[in-house]
Amino acid sequence: MAFIEWDDRYSVGVARFNEQHQRLVGMINRLDEAVHQGTERQVLLQVLSDLAGYTKTHFAEEERLMEEHGYPELASHREEHKRLNREVAGLYTSYFTSKKPLTADMMAFLKNWLYDHIQGNDKRYQPFFSERGIS
Ligand SMILES: [Fe+2]
Repeated sequence: MAFIEWDDRYSVGVARFNEQHQRLVGMINRLDEAVHQGTERQVLLQVLSDLAGYTKTHFAEEERLMEEHGYPELASHREEHKRLNREVAGLYTSYFTSKKPLTADMMAFLKNWLYDHIQGNDKRYQPFFSERGIS
């Protein structure tokens, strides 16, 4: 069983964003698998760095669509994205600078980090885009 199982309840109603969220889930699952396989540190750092990079790309795409359609909560959503970017970058840095292994706590943090955002802020744009025929 994967570390994070995708479920339709996590759908935000916009196909491209669901796909991007699933890709993020896949990256976190890969990281978890690699941790369990005792994969070398250098590889884990690369996966974490890829995750941080793709997160930025995904957030920018969400913000672009929100901007294009005048989403009223864009400013607060953008702030939340900034915070999440900082958090994943912080995780990378603390793992990079410490000599300790990547812990279950860090993995649990990443799982919640993604879920909370999808279930919280992202779900809020679903009706807005749906009213504009974007699915
Ligand atoms: Fe978002």
